[in-house]
Amino acid sequence: MSLMEKLKIKFPIIQAPMAGVTTPELVVASANAGILGSIGAGYLSAEVTRAFIEEVKKATAKPFAVNLFVPNEVQTTKEDLEEAYNVLKPYRKKLMIAEEGALLSTSDFDAQIDVIIEEGVKVCSFTFGIPTEDIIKKLQKHEIYTIGTATTVEEAILVQDHGLDAVVMQGEEAGGHRGSFTEPEELVSLQELLEGVKEKVKIPVIAAGGIATKKQIQAALESGADVVQIGTAFLVSEESGAPEIHKQQILNAEENVTALTKVFSGKLARGIENDFMVFMEGNKIAPYPYQNDLTISIRRRAQELDIYSLMAMWAGSNLHLAEAGSVQEIVNRLTK
Ligand SMILES: Cc1cc2nc3c(=O)[nH]c(=O)nc-3n(C[C@H](O)[C@H](O)[C@H](O)COP(=O)(O)O)c2cc1C
Repeated sequence: MSLMEKLKIKFPIIQAPMAGVTTPELVVASANAGILGSIGAGYLSAEVTRAFIEEVKKATAKPFAVNLFVPNEVQTTKEDLEEAYNVLKPYRKKLMIAEEGALLSTSDFDAQIDVIIEEGVKVCSFTFGIPTEDIIKKLQKHEIYTIGTATTVEEAILVQDHGLDAVVMQGEEAGGHRGSFTEPEELVSLQELLEGVKEKVKIPVIAAGGIATKKQIQAALESGADVVQIGTAFLVSEESGAPEIHKQQILNAEENVTALTKVFSGKLARGIENDFMVFMEGNKIAPYPYQNDLTISIRRRAQELDIYSLMAMWAGSNLHLAEAGSVQEIVNRLTK
C-alpha cells in the first residue's frame, strides 16, 4: 500500500504540524481538501491535546496526524539560566513586563501518547528526536502510523532503524524549528537529502522545506519523495492561527529575508530576520526549552502590541512564494 493510501489522502501533501499556530479549523480544512492535516501539539498539555483532537474529530471523520516534541535531557545550571534571563531585561523593560522570573515548562509527552491512543488518532509524527522503543511499539500495536523527522541522511537511517514507519526529510529551507537530534548540527538542502536517502532509506520519505508550488511538489516526488510536507504556505491561510501581522509579513516578503536563530527558544529555527534576532546574537542563551520559557512573556506581549521586531516569525526560505487564501484555495493552486 502506498503512503497516500495509508494516509487516505487524495493529494500527496501533508499540512505541516505547526505548534503554536495550528487551529482545529486548519486541520479540518486540510482533511476536507484531500490532504493530511496535522495538529502541532508540541507545546500542549495532555488535556489540551485531548480537547484539540476532540474538536477536530467532531468536524471530520478523516484521518489526521498529531505531532509531538520528543523530550530531551537538558544540561544547564541555575547561574546560566539567571544570566540568560538577565540578558532579556531591556526587552522586558521596553514592553513593560514585570520582573517576576520565568516559569520553566515541563513536558507532558507520555500522557500525550496515552491521549493519542485513547482518542484513536491514526497518525503520530515526532520531531526533535526518536521516541523510545516502548512508545513506538505501543503506538504501532494500536495501528497508529508513526513518522519521525530527520535533517541528515544519518538521522533518517536512525529513524528507520528504530522502527518508525516513515520519515520527514526536513531540508535547511524549512520554516520553524529544525528537527535535528544529532551533533554536530548540519544544514543540508532538501534536494541533497532526497538524493542521499535514495539508496539508504527504504521506509516512505516525506519531503519538507521550502515547498510552495505545484512544480516544487513534482520535483520532490521525482526526486524520490512519497509525499511532501508544507508549513509556511499554509501558515498564511485563513484557517491558520498565526497572528495577522505574521501572515502579512510573509505575504509581503521579498526573497532571502529569513535566517536561522536560537535566540527565541534555544533551538535552531528559521524565521524572518528581525531586530530581536540581530541584537540578541552573541548573548547568553539558555538551552531549549528554557530559552523558550524565558522569552515567552516578551513574544506574547510583542504579539499583543503588533511589534513584529520582537516576535518569532517562523517562515521557510521560500516564504515569498506563499499566497493568501483559504486552505482549499491553496491546495487548488498546489495541485491543479
Ligand atoms: C510556524 C511553524 C511551526 C512549526 N512547528 C512544527 C512542529 O510543531 N512540529 C514539526 O514537526 N515541525 C514544525 N515545523 C516545521 C514543519 O514541519 C516543516 O518542516 C516546515 O514547515 C517545512 O518548511 P516550509 O515552512 O518552508 O514549508 C514548523 C514550521 C513552521 C513554519
